[in-house]
Amino acid sequence: MKPPGPHGGERERLQRTYIWPAPLRLCHWLMVVSVAGLWISGWFMQHLPGWHAASREQHLMLAWLLVPALALRLVLLFTGKGSAAGWRDLLPQHWQGVRDTLRFYVTFGQLPLPRWYAHNPLWAPVYLLFLLALLAQIVSGFLIDAERFPFGFDPVQLHAPLATAIGAFMLLHVIAVLVHDWRSGNSDVSAMLHGYRIFRLEKPQVPGEQVVRFEPRDEAPTEKS
Ligand code: HEM
Ligand code: HEM
Repeated sequence: MKPPGPHGGERERLQRTYIWPAPLRLCHWLMVVSVAGLWISGWFMQHLPGWHAASREQHLMLAWLLVPALALRLVLLFTGKGSAAGWRDLLPQHWQGVRDTLRFYVTFGQLPLPRWYAHNPLWAPVYLLFLLALLAQIVSGFLIDAERFPFGFDPVQLHAPLATAIGAFMLLHVIAVLVHDWRSGNSDVSAMLHGYRIFRLEKPQVPGEQVVRFEPRDEAPTEKS
């Protein structure tokens, strides 16, 4: 029998694994500040004409925070091979994990949340689309002030609806990460601060060995004792 934990329950074996490289975390939090600020200042420009000039100034300042954050994230997509920052981690894959995450959502958490290693398998491709949406938002934003638009295209026609989509992403993303953290106990939110996710080790299949299983990666850590 396992020895009791500090509060008398069965003691759990946990493994703390470094998942999120520092530059990815830096990009994440720079994007949080810049994208949230751009969304709010954009909303002010659209809905509060009296605040237009001041909001516009803030908007353009925040744009210069988003540009380096996204540029670094795009560089990491191509240089972060083998880490959670590489583009391969954001491609649609691990269909079982995608299905199980969807089942968790549509049953309002009645079915179990699957386990995964770094990015949630359902959200990973959404993040890739989101990074591309930010790129389109930057290009269209800088084109708004251009004297003549290329190909007779009005960039506001792209900028405004993309802003709505980005707002929807932020809302759903924050709800999802909070629910995932609550239901998985993997410290997902603080992992985006210090880089380490916590995994529960499964009961040993072979005496003397502890295993932790996730959907996505083959190189899941194995602890032998
Ligand atoms: C509101 C603005 C936010 C934006 C634009 C944003 C953007 C992103 C992006 C692009 C990723 C993918 C990571 C990557 O590979 O680059 C991500 C992941 C993540 N974000 Fe955010 N985020 C926002 C807010 C937050 C907040 C407020 C939290 C914490 C409460 C959070 C926690 C996380 C976590 C834990 C992940 C990894 C989750 C997973 O892979 O499923 N994010 N976020
Ligand atoms: C997440 C990123 C962004 C969001 C959510 C966002 C959102 C918005 C919104 C909602 C508007 C008002 C559109 C309208 O009047 O219908 C706007 C306007 C504008 N945005 Fe952005 N934006 C973002 C990024 C950028 C960037 C990177 C730039 C680059 C300079 C930029 C430049 C502008 C300009 C010049 C305007 C027009 C201001 C005016 O009406 O005088 N935006 N944005």
